[in-house]
Amino acid sequence: MTTSSSSRRALLTDAQLSRLAPTHPLRAGGTDDSPLIRAMVGDRPEHPPVWFMRQAGRSLPEYRQAREGTNMLESCLTPSLAAEITLQPVRRHGVDAAIFFSDIVVPLKIAGLDVDIVPGRGPVMGSPYRTMREIEALPEIPDAAFDPIREAVSLTVDQLGSTPLIGFAGAPFTVAAYMAEGGSSRDHLGPRTMMHRDPEAWEALATWVARVSGQFLAAQVEAGASAVQLFDSWAGSLPERDYRAHVLAHSAAALGAVEKYGIPRVHFGTGTGELLGAMKEAGGDVVGVDYRVDLDEASRRVGPETPLQGNIDPAMLDAGWEVLQKHTTDVLSKGRAAAAHIVNLGHGVPPSTDPTVLTRLVEFIHES
Ligand code: CP3
Repeated sequence: MTTSSSSRRALLTDAQLSRLAPTHPLRAGGTDDSPLIRAMVGDRPEHPPVWFMRQAGRSLPEYRQAREGTNMLESCLTPSLAAEITLQPVRRHGVDAAIFFSDIVVPLKIAGLDVDIVPGRGPVMGSPYRTMREIEALPEIPDAAFDPIREAVSLTVDQLGSTPLIGFAGAPFTVAAYMAEGGSSRDHLGPRTMMHRDPEAWEALATWVARVSGQFLAAQVEAGASAVQLFDSWAGSLPERDYRAHVLAHSAAALGAVEKYGIPRVHFGTGTGELLGAMKEAGGDVVGVDYRVDLDEASRRVGPETPLQGNIDPAMLDAGWEVLQKHTTDVLSKGRAAAAHIVNLGHGVPPSTDPTVLTRLVEFIHES
């Protein structure tokens, strides 16, 4: 069923949109009529919208060139560079959305914490945050500290026109996992033990992260993002009972920080097949599904009225065109079980991906 323009406007309510600046792309830039936003509010536009998680990054030679000599976090906090890198995959692939070039640990850097992103390893903290004393000492971040983010977003949306920018933040569990662990880990034993050994300290840490991720989202939305995505990349390590008892409310708080603006919110996790129902309850308008669960099954788990995003297996990108085409056709077909479908990968673009394959894939999806 196709939603008419007027009922679409009813979903993006005028009362909510009026909280955005009159020049915001959703009010003045035409992004409300873009295929991405239409699908996110439950419509089926002429062609399925498609974008890729990690579409900006090492798979693009122009990214590697732009980044030369500048470290990752410094790049994120240099507005002209962050805007340029955000635009690169839109120009090259003709995707239906830009995703803001930044990182889930950028708010920690803005807060003045000792954090770095080490190539091949990911985020690394100077020291872990596990005890109540360490967590109580975490600072409040003044909203003005997010000005470099606002500036980068606003430079980006000026050049994007009617193509929407998706803002994002890390979900409390995923960001707190790096903080509790002091860096990356496979099993996330640090945060998973902490929530049982010292539930009050865990609660305080997750509350702090939910607030800064919420501030990060709000800064992007106020400066021009037309949608947001909350990334809970490591939530799949949790049993559902722990997700419900120690995580769900914090993810709800982060998503709640931008609810008043009425913009569509995507809630995405990896390895979260067993948590899809609980993640839907935490909030968000669209559920992002990784490559492990077929979209028709995911739709059964969250309810057919929820638009889904996903879930081409990144492993297929280098498996040969015919294989990728067949797999994509299957993803599109299973996506019809949901009210609407935003095509994406089931996780980020691997750095080794041939970018010409992505461009061809966008064309194929647009012709479907
Ligand atoms: O195109 C996009 O998706 C844009 C921006 C983006 C980045 N990181 C840029 C980035 C987004 C949305 C993220 C989110 C992010 N960061 C997540 C959640 C999504 C996911 O992938 O599950 C996580 C877990 C992180 C933490 C992080 N940052 C990791 C694990 C790494 C990779 C480290 C490595 O070298 O393998 C980073 C670094 C990072 N973030 C890069 C990019 C483009 C690579 C930096 C480089 O060029 O070396």
